[in-house]
Amino acid sequence: MKACIVFAQEGKDSFCHVILSRVTQSLEKEQITYELRDLYQMNFQPVFTAEDMQRVEQGTSSDDIQSEQTIITDADLLVMIYPVWWWSAPAILKGYIDRVFTNGFAFRYGSDGPVGQLTNKQAIVFTTTRESAERMAATGLDSVIKKQIVDGTLQFMGFDVTYQNFAAVPYVDDAARRNMLSQVETIIAGIRQPIGV
Ligand SMILES: Cc1cc2nc3c(=O)[nH]c(=O)nc-3n(C[C@H](O)[C@H](O)[C@H](O)COP(=O)(O)O)c2cc1C
Repeated sequence: MKACIVFAQEGKDSFCHVILSRVTQSLEKEQITYELRDLYQMNFQPVFTAEDMQRVEQGTSSDDIQSEQTIITDADLLVMIYPVWWWSAPAILKGYIDRVFTNGFAFRYGSDGPVGQLTNKQAIVFTTTRESAERMAATGLDSVIKKQIVDGTLQFMGFDVTYQNFAAVPYVDDAARRNMLSQVETIIAGIRQPIGV
């Protein structure tokens, strides 16, 4: 089984970095190999350009996008890790989704509407928020984050998705952080291994 981790947080000292480290340790424990796509470290160019649109219309892609699509195609599991910014993903990740998961690669439109092309794959999304779980539930913003990345993006493409947000991360104590990291490990340990792998 192979995984692709798409990581979108700047710097190196965030809680997302701690989550990343627990994800890689857990994958190694499960003997799952992985490719790490650290978008800030890669200096990924996130702007979907007119040239990108022309290529999509012609059924081709630029070399940087082709190599990302090959990694996604080869992976059985996609793990996304990012902080919630304005109830969505950081721009660098939004741009990765725009440019890599193109019409023709990630989905197609058939006579009955859109059809996801990335089936038989699992995805796990870990996000962090400053806002507390209680306040997000009260405002409904928790479902905004989830609906956008789970229903509107990864399920649309065909992935079987597990989603976990860790709330109020700048404010919680060490015991709560340890509990969050054990949840990360439990989620990774619970993924379905394809038969024969
Ligand atoms: C540009 C920007 C936008 C943000 N928007 C939100 C938001 O919409 N909701 C929220 O709860 N926190 C928001 N935050 C706070 C981050 O989510 C928070 O700092 C992060 O989850 C902490 O995790 P980390 O230690 O991995 O950075 C925002 C932070 C930045 C820099």
